[in-house]
Amino acid sequence: MTASKRIALSSDHAAIELRQAVAAHIAANGWEVEDIGPTSPESTHYPKHGEAAARLVASGDCGLGIVLCGTGQGIMMAANKVKGIRCGVCADTFSAAMIRQHNNANMLSIGARVVGEGLALDIVDAFLNAEFEGGRHATRVEMIEALEG
Ligand code: RB5
Repeated sequence: MTASKRIALSSDHAAIELRQAVAAHIAANGWEVEDIGPTSPESTHYPKHGEAAARLVASGDCGLGIVLCGTGQGIMMAANKVKGIRCGVCADTFSAAMIRQHNNANMLSIGARVVGEGLALDIVDAFLNAEFEGGRHATRVEMIEALEG
C-alpha cells in the first residue's frame, strides 16, 4: 500500500476507545492504519502522542494523520509544532472536508469528550474523502508554510 493510503493514528488516554473505533472504521474502508497508541488507560501527556503521529506524516511515512484527545485541542497544538504539519480540530463534517479542500490539512484532530462516536466517524470520512482544490488555496497554504521559517 502507498504511504498516501497509510494513516497515522494516535491519542492520549482520554480518547483511546474512540481512537480504536476510528482505527477499525478506516481499516474496514481500505485505509492502512498506523496506530501508535497508547493502549494503556493510564494518564499520559498528549504532546508526545501528537508529535509522534505528526512525525510520521511529516516524514512521508504516512499520507495523513488523525489525532484525538479530550477536546482535540492540545494534541492538535502539539502536532502543528512539527514542520510541515497542518492539523485542524473538527467537530463537524463540513469543516473536516474544508480543511482538506482549502487548507490542505494533512492531519485531523477530534475531541473524544466533544463528539460521539457516530459523528466522529462521519468527520473522519469527510476528511479522508476530500481532496485539496489547489489554485488560489495553494497560494494561501504556501503563505502558511512560509511562516514556519
Ligand atoms: C486530558 O485530561 C485532557 O487535558 C486532554 O485530553 C485534552 O483535552 C487536552 O487538550
